[in-house]
Amino acid sequence: MMENPLREGLRLERTPEPCTMVIFGASGDLTKRKLVPALYSLAQQNLLPGGFSIVGSGRTTMSSEDFRARMGEAVNEFLEVGAVDNSVWENCAAGMFYIPTDVKDQESFKSLSELLTQIDQQRGTSGNRLFYFSTPPSLYAPLTQLLGSVGLNRSTGWTRVIIEKPFGHDLESMRALNKEVLEVFTEDQVYRIDHYLGKETVQNILVLRFANGIFEPLWNRRYIEHVQITAAETLGVEARGGYYDQIGVLRDMIQNHLFQIFTLVAMEPPASLEANAVRDEKTKVMRAIRPIAREQVDQFAVRGQYAKGAVNGQSVEGYREEKNVRPDSSTETYAAVKLLVDNWRWADVPFYLRSAKRLPKRVTEVAVQFRSAPHLLFKGSEPLQPNSLTLRIQPDAGITLRFGAKLPGQAVKVRTVNMDFRYVTSFGKKSPDAYERLLLDAMLGDSTLFARGDMVELSWRLLMPVLDAWQKPAKDFPNYESGSWGPKESGEFMHREGRRWRRL
Ligand code: BG6
Repeated sequence: MMENPLREGLRLERTPEPCTMVIFGASGDLTKRKLVPALYSLAQQNLLPGGFSIVGSGRTTMSSEDFRARMGEAVNEFLEVGAVDNSVWENCAAGMFYIPTDVKDQESFKSLSELLTQIDQQRGTSGNRLFYFSTPPSLYAPLTQLLGSVGLNRSTGWTRVIIEKPFGHDLESMRALNKEVLEVFTEDQVYRIDHYLGKETVQNILVLRFANGIFEPLWNRRYIEHVQITAAETLGVEARGGYYDQIGVLRDMIQNHLFQIFTLVAMEPPASLEANAVRDEKTKVMRAIRPIAREQVDQFAVRGQYAKGAVNGQSVEGYREEKNVRPDSSTETYAAVKLLVDNWRWADVPFYLRSAKRLPKRVTEVAVQFRSAPHLLFKGSEPLQPNSLTLRIQPDAGITLRFGAKLPGQAVKVRTVNMDFRYVTSFGKKSPDAYERLLLDAMLGDSTLFARGDMVELSWRLLMPVLDAWQKPAKDFPNYESGSWGPKESGEFMHREGRRWRRL
């Protein structure tokens, strides 16, 4: 038998030990849209252990019956693939409970502890517990403390805690939160979730790089000219105006999701697939990012905010008109940041990260642009675009290689063409939802796809100068129309770099 399959480079399909998952914030949006549908889908695929139980908790008072009924509706509404199988659902529902808790009331946590002991006895979950913090971030520290104070940070089995993003609001609050969490739990009990890491196509970045012989030799400053990582959304802030207005896109998307993608693209090959082997390499490349000086922020970052306009033919409001947003808000809904990586592989190769709401198209991709051929033999051709390799993360996941090909005919003319790989065409099935993978991994005790504290700290540290500079009200906001590709300053920024944003 292999001692540690991950060290051997093997990730087997395994079923976790029987356990109970406790969701704090059980009446919230994430629970009904993502968590419970993902758990149901795992059950349908037979990937959950026998006796698996769910305890919903939060300030709302409701009975376990009410909770089951609500979650039943949610699964019917939000399950993405296939139809709900009633017998599978009945089986899930039989293991679902609800208990109100309030961070101001320690007694309620004692009752939770008693319920968990009862479930252990009745359903054979042996003290294995996974706590999920899906509450407003201000409750993460009090929840941790309370769990510790009633002894729920340890048990006869394993205890783990999944913490939703954002992990901190800036460097200082991140550190304070991390400290409080680590006073109660050990680092290997803590799973800081970033749902982008659960996306099949994000994981495929490592496979593309390290399972193939042809890409990695080119994956460095000799051949790569620059890299663009884009997460464009058509949505606005929807019902989350109050929350978003305190956050902005730099904190909402770049500090976590885009930095995670960046590390997978830029890291060195890990020694194995063990969680810490992978995360050590990710942290190492983060350390190599050149700090942005406070007085140089304008040379490294651009911000924007959407005005009214039209997306997909629909007129939409400007950001400042959204519900619960301050009418003079300077919160950014567009951000682009340049990262320079001071190491042997990447010296002088800029990485451009951009994300925004209310752009014309929803697309997340990594585009690696190669250096041009050293000498152009084919004069008179259309100006050739440089070769690029694009990893499309969503939608329409796939990989595209762009290169020059001869136009048929007597003359030698070269035109840019694409070679395409599409997931759906090759594999004929939809990828599982990110939360399915991540919840299962947390139950299995595999933290490879979760953010480690040191990396989260580094990402905050790097962005602090930008966040500080952007405290200053933006005089020109709003500065891009909804449904456009962002503010003109962003185009000018790339122009000064001697480059262009990709047209998507
Ligand atoms: C979340 C952000 O983390 O990611 C949202 O808070 C954003 O603002 C969402 O819309 C995007 O996720 P996805 O999976 O739809 O790309």
